[in-house]
Amino acid sequence: MDDLRDKYLTAIATAADEATLEDLRVAAVGKKGEVSLQMRELGKMTPEERQAAGPKLNALKDEINSALSAKKAALEDAALDARLAQEWLDVTLPARQTPQGTIHPVSQVTEEVTAILADMGFAVAEGPQIETDWYNFDALNIPSHHPARTEMDTFYMARADGDNRPPHVLRTHTSPVQIRSMQDHGAPIRIICPGRVYRADYDQTHTPMFHQVEGLAIDKDISMANLKWVLEEFFSAFFGTSVKTRFRASHFPFTEPSAEVDIQCSWEGGTVKVGEGDGWLEVLGSGMVHPKVLEAGGIDPAQWQGFAFGMGIDRMAMLKYGIPDLRAFFDSDLRWLRHYGFSALQVPTLHGGL
Ligand code: DAH
Repeated sequence: MDDLRDKYLTAIATAADEATLEDLRVAAVGKKGEVSLQMRELGKMTPEERQAAGPKLNALKDEINSALSAKKAALEDAALDARLAQEWLDVTLPARQTPQGTIHPVSQVTEEVTAILADMGFAVAEGPQIETDWYNFDALNIPSHHPARTEMDTFYMARADGDNRPPHVLRTHTSPVQIRSMQDHGAPIRIICPGRVYRADYDQTHTPMFHQVEGLAIDKDISMANLKWVLEEFFSAFFGTSVKTRFRASHFPFTEPSAEVDIQCSWEGGTVKVGEGDGWLEVLGSGMVHPKVLEAGGIDPAQWQGFAFGMGIDRMAMLKYGIPDLRAFFDSDLRWLRHYGFSALQVPTLHGGL
C-alpha cells in the first residue's frame, strides 16, 4: 500500500498539466483504479483483516484525492499567472497617435453657405460636371457665336471620329443646373447648387477647377428687391457682421437686367476686411432670369419670373479666412491643410441668428 502511496503522490506532485492529473486520478481512484480495486478486495477479507486494511485504504484514497485537488489548484494558478504575465498593459505609455484629417476650407465654406441659404428656404440641387454644350451655353441664352463661349476658356471633351453625340464640356459654371432644376421641378422653385466648375485658367486667383454656388428663385412676383434682401442677409450671416452691398449694372446673357454685386470692405495694411470701411469688392453676378432661359427650362415667362445669382465659393473662403493664394487650395500640401483646415467639431454657425 505504501508503494501505491509513493507512486501516486510523486506522480501527482510532478504532473505538468491537468490532463496528466486526470489520467492519474482515473488510474488511482477511478472506477477501475488501483486503489478502487484494492477496496473491492476488502469484501473477501476476514473481519479482522478488513478492520486493519479498510481505514488505511480510505485514508489513502482521501490523501490522493486531496493531493489531486491541491495540484489542480496549483496548476490553475500557474496558468493564470502565465496569462497575466503575457497580457499586461502599461497604462503609463503615451497613447498611440492616430492621424487626424481636417476639413478643407472649401468644404467648410460650402457647408456654411448651404446652411445659411437652406435656412432661407433654398433646397440643394445638383447637376453633372460633364455637361452638353446646350445646358452649359445655349439654354442659358449663350448661342454658339457668342463671345462668352471663348471668354470662358471652356474645356471640351475629346470626341472620336464619327461620334455623333452632342458636344460635351466640363461645365464652366453652375448655371446649367438652373435649367435642369426648372425642367425637373417646374415653378415655383427655390434652389441653390454648390459644386465644381472648370475653366482653363491659372494664376494667384484662378485654378482650372474651382467652386461656385448658384442660386435660383422663381415665383409669380419675385423681384430684384428680393434678390437684394437675400444677398444682404446672406453676407451678414456668412461674415458675422452686417455687410453693405452695392449693385452695379452689368451684362450676363442669362439675366435681364443683370447686376454685379460688390460687398463693403476696407483695405488697411494690405488685408481685406469685409463689413467695414468704404472700399468695395466684387463677389458675384446676378440678375432677373432672362425669359429665354425660363423657356429653355420649360417655364412660361408670361406667368413666372425670378432672380438668379452665381458666386465663387473658393473666393468666399479666401475672404472669410484670409487665405491669400487660391492655387494652394488644391496642392494637397498637408502643412497647408493643417493650417487652414477645420476640425470636424467646427460645425457651421449662423452668426446673424437668421
Ligand atoms: N454663371 C456666371 C459665371 O460663372 C455667374 C452668374 C452671373 C450666375 C449671373 C448667375 C447670374 O446665375 O444670374 O460667371
